[in-house]
Amino acid sequence: MKTMQNNAERAKRHFFPAQQTYYEQPLTLVSGEGSRLRDDVGNEYLDGFAGICTNTLGYGDTPVAQAVAEQAKELIHTSTLYLNEPMLDLAEKVAEIAPQGMTKSFFSNSGSEANEMATLIARTSKKSVDLLSLDHAYHGRTAYTVALAGQSQWRNFATQMPHVAFLPNPYCYRCPLEMTYPSCGIACAKYAKRVVESQTDGAPAAMIAETISGVGGIVAPPPEYFHVLKETLAPYGTLLIADEVQTGWGRLGDGWFGMVSSYGVVPDIITSAKGLASGFPIGITITRPELADTFKGPHINTFGGNPIATRAALVTIDVVEKRDLIANCKRQGETLMAGLRDLATTFHAIGEVRGKGLMIGVELVQDRASKRAAPDLATKMLEEMRERKVLIGKGGRYGNVLRIQPPFVFDDGDVREFLQAFKDSLAALR
Ligand SMILES: Cc1ncc(COP(=O)(O)O)c(C=O)c1O
Repeated sequence: MKTMQNNAERAKRHFFPAQQTYYEQPLTLVSGEGSRLRDDVGNEYLDGFAGICTNTLGYGDTPVAQAVAEQAKELIHTSTLYLNEPMLDLAEKVAEIAPQGMTKSFFSNSGSEANEMATLIARTSKKSVDLLSLDHAYHGRTAYTVALAGQSQWRNFATQMPHVAFLPNPYCYRCPLEMTYPSCGIACAKYAKRVVESQTDGAPAAMIAETISGVGGIVAPPPEYFHVLKETLAPYGTLLIADEVQTGWGRLGDGWFGMVSSYGVVPDIITSAKGLASGFPIGITITRPELADTFKGPHINTFGGNPIATRAALVTIDVVEKRDLIANCKRQGETLMAGLRDLATTFHAIGEVRGKGLMIGVELVQDRASKRAAPDLATKMLEEMRERKVLIGKGGRYGNVLRIQPPFVFDDGDVREFLQAFKDSLAALR
């Protein structure tokens, strides 16, 4: 019989060691239903992390699972050399829900690829190789997207691409400029002027930013951040790329794309992946025709626009609309955040609770006065939550931020159960 123990040994024997898993004893998942997952020895877990912010509609016999099964019998694959109906339908649907004028899409298989295409379009159209990114950023694991990473632990490739300059992250809890919001006047966004004028060719092609840094520790910028950033970059003609890989499709609870709906700023290019097809691999780069048209190709992507993936995405968007799941993300997110902030009054290991909708971070510290990061506590919290049959993630530059990013179908009971497990796990750390 396969057991937890021998699965860990099998993985060790046959996977690259770089592929690390959560938990001292890796977890093997076998099935699920709604917001629940089951492991290989029959335990059931409430899922607060959705396979890294991806399983939008949860598990089991969902409309996505049904559509995938039907589509697999009709047509599994075409490549971008042919058209298929789901890829066309999805491109039309995206044009309908994206900000006005953003009518063109390029499909790929992952967030990394979506970002590669975005930077390629920006560089081609602007005729500059220079790019701006943020400290704490994470944009993927291809060589180029690693060069856009603003965390040393994710810049661990032997080769790095030049021509990327970094701006301070709008991380108010640990302000890189040692200022205080709002009296800072969003100095971190205005800092872009200095970076452009000193570290680039003077007209960098694009600035790429996650709407909320996910891997970087759920760092949510202040409300006016993207306005000030866009205004600061306008004189240089620098395009704004919104990496909505984690924040897209309604997770932030205000609309389809976080930068547009939660921050009121329309970027020039939007990239996404993860939750779009509720767990089926897909990447998308969305922009205006005049930018898309500057890249003449030829260009192919073997699995891009795959009929199963694009149909899974269409069904995901449809269900999110029909079941009003964006509003659910807002409502459940607010209850979760309020419950976590309440726990912070008793548990001083919580330095800050932040985020929007169902994208919440809990930063753990050794003590509140020094704000010294507590990565060990974060690791222990993952184990304690697992003991109580709840899954969460972690991240942050210092590895001390707990990440709560459940499926959009999280309901009132799930939230109550989650908060109880969180409280008990915090108590067990003492
Ligand atoms: C913001 C962001 N961009 C890009 C990526 C890369 O996506 P993928 O792993 O699908 O290549 C990720 C993955 O975590 C991400 O969080």
